[in-house]
Amino acid sequence: MDRSKVRVLLPAEKIQARIRELGAQISNDYPDGRPIYLICILKGAVMFHADLARAIDRSVRMDFIGISSYGKNKTSSGEVRLTKDLDTSIEGADVLIIEDIVDSGITLSYLKHVLEQRRPRSVRIAALLDKPERRLRPVEVAYVGFTIPDEFVVGYGLDYAEEYRNLRDICILDP
Ligand code: IMP
Ligand code: MG
Repeated sequence: MDRSKVRVLLPAEKIQARIRELGAQISNDYPDGRPIYLICILKGAVMFHADLARAIDRSVRMDFIGISSYGKNKTSSGEVRLTKDLDTSIEGADVLIIEDIVDSGITLSYLKHVLEQRRPRSVRIAALLDKPERRLRPVEVAYVGFTIPDEFVVGYGLDYAEEYRNLRDICILDP
């Protein structure tokens, strides 16, 4: 891992503070009683999924879905594939999709459509990062951690060619 190629955009403490706020907001928005199905989009959202789950003061279920749209490049191929499906049924469930970053919006608009066909009670999206300048497909994100400029970022789950996921901070990867 070449640390000279990255500079910190969002330090770990700032990420954790924002996740506590999002957890409080989500706990406030969802009634007690029914579990919230937190669906992690592998692999980039794993850190956010794990930390956000612990910041939510409600009953939750944790499941994982695999989607591939990028390969090794920095730009979306526009092609989305389901590589791993959920283990559980979401029929009648309150689903919260957990994503690392919304870029073109292609991944999330595809996934939301796929999950809605399974007749959940509700589907919302929580994304840690949003790069609105790059949007190609409109997608409604109920919970956004940070809006960031059009820079390629790594760390806290986000990768470049599978590298840098274990950085605690979110960093800009220099070209
Ligand atoms: P979208 O379909 O273009 O919105 O792409 C979303 C996916 O692209 C995310 O789940 C990330 O895996 C990846 N992605 C987009 N921007 C970045 C970035 O700046 N760094 C790392 N991955 C990114
Ligand atoms: Mg991803």
